[in-house]
Amino acid sequence: MTNTTDKTSISFLQKALNTAIKAADAAAELQLKAFGDEHDIEFKSNEADLVTAYDKASEAIIRRIILETFPDHAFLGEEGVEEDENSSSAYRWIVDPIDGTMNFAYNLPHFCISIALEHAGEMQVGLVYDPVRKEYFKAIKGQGASVNDKPMQMTDCTELRNTVVACGFGKIEHVVPIAQKLLHDLTPVFRTQRRFGASALDLCYLACGRIDAFWGINQKLWDVAAGGLIAEEMGAKFTTETLTTEKGVTNLYIATNQELFPIMHKRIHESIESIEGLVVT
Ligand code: IPD
Ligand code: CA
Ligand code: CA
Repeated sequence: MTNTTDKTSISFLQKALNTAIKAADAAAELQLKAFGDEHDIEFKSNEADLVTAYDKASEAIIRRIILETFPDHAFLGEEGVEEDENSSSAYRWIVDPIDGTMNFAYNLPHFCISIALEHAGEMQVGLVYDPVRKEYFKAIKGQGASVNDKPMQMTDCTELRNTVVACGFGKIEHVVPIAQKLLHDLTPVFRTQRRFGASALDLCYLACGRIDAFWGINQKLWDVAAGGLIAEEMGAKFTTETLTTEKGVTNLYIATNQELFPIMHKRIHESIESIEGLVVT
């Protein structure tokens, strides 16, 4: 008989969370030692898509610590520093070693380490650690979420005009016009729209009531895996939808409180659906 209960039991998930914290602490030590220095930057897809040696070194150390404890689990890291040997495992760690690389590279103190554990397609554990502010945002599926082990509370904002919204998107040819449309149409509608540059922290700020909502275009799984669970555990609703234009395919991610969600979703859709040729699925 296979013991699946064991593998999703609280003690198993707590062990996974503790391992994520150990891995994040090790990566944070590297990052904080380097923070403030001038960084050598490499470019990935374009001149706005950066990576530093610390993104790669952080991912390598996180990977090593996690696989030491869970050698059979799959591992998906943004930087893909090593090949995944267990890609068929039902357990997969999803890691963004530095979310907010542009901020880190320019010594802007707003970035984080994001680590999630997924089982059979569902996030079970989420950790987002902001090493500058020393804030650990944690969640275990069904067990709630916390910041530095203290309870959190989302806002109960229900009117668009009172909403403080964070947004995220990359400088990618087929993404920018959609983001521009939302910035153009919704800036007069919301109280404000902010682009902080680290989506995982945006979702944690939603979870703890520092903002009311988040939208992102072209969000990758590692940007939202841990933060999405943390926000969801605090009562947030989120969706990811595919956006297709003649220039390419991307996605739209929206997260906010349950009551505001349909209102926000409708208003965002009104805006992007007026882009010629854009199809939402
Ligand atoms: C980026 C940040 C940013 C979001 C971008 C992401 P990175 O991640 O989360 O807030 O707008 O879409 O790519 O590259 O700093 O890990
Ligand atoms: Ca990221
Ligand atoms: Ca990153």
